[in-house]
Amino acid sequence: MQHASTFPFDLPAITRATFVRHVEFHPVLASTNTTAVELLEPLLNSSPAVVLTSQQTAGRGRKGNAWWSTAGALTFSLVLDPAQLQLSAELRPLLSLAAGLAVRDVMSQLLPERDVVIKWPNDVLVGRHKICGILAEQQSTGDRQGLIIGIGVNVNNSLAGAPPEIRQRATSLFDLQQYSCDLTDVLLRVLQQLERRIQQLPQQRMVLLAEANHCHLLAGRHVSVQVAEQTVSGHCLGIDDHGQLVLRDGSQIQRLPSGVVLHWSESAQTLRL
Ligand code: BTN
Repeated sequence: MQHASTFPFDLPAITRATFVRHVEFHPVLASTNTTAVELLEPLLNSSPAVVLTSQQTAGRGRKGNAWWSTAGALTFSLVLDPAQLQLSAELRPLLSLAAGLAVRDVMSQLLPERDVVIKWPNDVLVGRHKICGILAEQQSTGDRQGLIIGIGVNVNNSLAGAPPEIRQRATSLFDLQQYSCDLTDVLLRVLQQLERRIQQLPQQRMVLLAEANHCHLLAGRHVSVQVAEQTVSGHCLGIDDHGQLVLRDGSQIQRLPSGVVLHWSESAQTLRL
């Protein structure tokens, strides 16, 4: 029998109950995204595939940042073959937004009394505290393209031991509920919602975008976003059909394909795209 603290997952359930065909589990990894890049070719051959660990030692975040997590967090990467999923190049920028929405769906199921929102491009927050981060990467091997969606959800880990700057702005299911969840159950729910949301992209993109705009923290707020060396500010009109953040500054409209949100105002106005 394997020890629960190093093996908290029911691996056969993952391929039985979701669209995932192969699970690559390692008790400890530097980063599931890095392992997914290293094993891309065999993983693509059995995609959708998941790289899963109980603990990351060098988790990677967006824009080269580190991702802090301890045992009890859910950290995994989903490897997808875009050709298999009818994901045209035009739809790929929307994939991380779809993934954020999938995790938001699950957090709303688990925390029905709480306000669970997404923050462009793909963070999931409970109230004002981040509970999930997503790192989507495109990589090629030979002439094949692979999509890697790395997802970190704070589940049974507490932020109590985190560095102060992370503790102030993040939370976990454990910190909110004061009890632990079954990690396999949370993973299965997330993977099932991911399948649903990914299927929505080619078929019902506008439905997905309407839902994303409906639960978007930044909508109507004054927002500052770092784009390369510049800071762009304006009132957020929402997320457009291509997943870009739309900001209005006076009569000027800016559409941002990517960036790091630095600040947002407390109050929001009703503004529409
Ligand atoms: C962010 O908010 O900056 C993105 C964080 C993404 C973290 C996840 S954890 C699983 C996967 N492996 C990594 O190294 N990063 C992603």
